[in-house]
Amino acid sequence: MKQVLLVVLFFFLNGLAFAILVTQPSLNLSYHNGPILSRDPLEVHILFYGSFSHSQKAIVRAFLSSISTPTKAKDVFTVQKWWSITRGYVDLSGSVVAQNVEISGESTDVYYRLGKILTTSNLTSLVLQYLQNSAASPNSLHLVVTAADVFVEGFCQDVCGQHLYTYPTVETNWKMLPYAWVGNAESQCPTFCAWRYAKSKYGSPTKPLKAPNGVGMDGLIFTLANVLVGVVTNPFQNAYYQGDASVVVEAVGACMDKHALGFDPSYPDKILKANKTGASYNVHGIRSYKFLVPFIWNPQTHSCAIQP
Ligand SMILES: *[C@@H]1O[C@H](CO)[C@@H](O)[C@H](O)[C@H]1NC(C)=O
Ligand SMILES: *[C@@H]1O[C@H](CO)[C@@H](O)[C@H](O)[C@H]1NC(C)=O
Ligand SMILES: *[C@@H]1O[C@H](CO)[C@@H](O)[C@H](O)[C@H]1NC(C)=O
Repeated sequence: MKQVLLVVLFFFLNGLAFAILVTQPSLNLSYHNGPILSRDPLEVHILFYGSFSHSQKAIVRAFLSSISTPTKAKDVFTVQKWWSITRGYVDLSGSVVAQNVEISGESTDVYYRLGKILTTSNLTSLVLQYLQNSAASPNSLHLVVTAADVFVEGFCQDVCGQHLYTYPTVETNWKMLPYAWVGNAESQCPTFCAWRYAKSKYGSPTKPLKAPNGVGMDGLIFTLANVLVGVVTNPFQNAYYQGDASVVVEAVGACMDKHALGFDPSYPDKILKANKTGASYNVHGIRSYKFLVPFIWNPQTHSCAIQP
């Protein structure tokens, strides 16, 4: 049985023209009455696929932990406040998106058991195998993180990461299981998936920024932020989105031109620069981690924001 039902595409550089089209002031991200991920905390299981350094893994964990950890520093933009924009997404019963994220489990496959070229159905297999071998609840969100030397169907062509869901199976307790995948594009397409930080061969309109966590990992975190917001607000492609099935615009996609504006010299306040390292970011995380996150469509204010 084919396990993959849905592929939600995220448009990056080549989606700019498209994004401008859909971010007219009249934009409304419609609610299609389907479920959102409101079970709080959202239990996340991280499946590292391929080789990762300790610090690379720590960056992923730190980002996820930052979602539910208040940062001591006052008056700064934080991952937690950024995530709180998702509180505006409400389901039919009045429940809001989970505000807390808990890392409930983790695995690493350093042996590339399914090879280095994966299809989306191979990603599903990884998730189902993990579910079988762990005590993970089928309510969890599984996050597959692929190493820089792994190619996944569509990677660097259409997408830098995706959220998907499986058909109900015995492993998922006969539920549809949402899951997400993000890849490290450092060696394959940094100018596509980490373009704010990557030096383009062809010269870029704006100077690349200095990456706080490394070009590949910062691109990965930006994508993770995007797919995470997408999966909680539209896990089964029947909740918050705009457009038809072929070109779905979700909570972050609706603000894609704002990312570009964030890097426009006329909006310099959106990008912060670390005094010591010169690295550019827009939110603070735990333990002085710094990250770059995309704008989120705020359904309460009908505008794009990185802080409520
Ligand atoms: C967008 O949605 C809000 C709230 O549902 C509504 O008040 C507003 O008229 C809508 N705007 C457009 C352009 O559809
Ligand atoms: C990966 O998925 C493809 C189908 O999409 C399948 O033919 C292939 O056998 C899978 N690879 C492994 C190692 O299971
Ligand atoms: C960074 O430099 C600016 C300007 O010199 C200063 O106002 C700010 O306090 C410094 N920030 C830190 C964290 O040292």
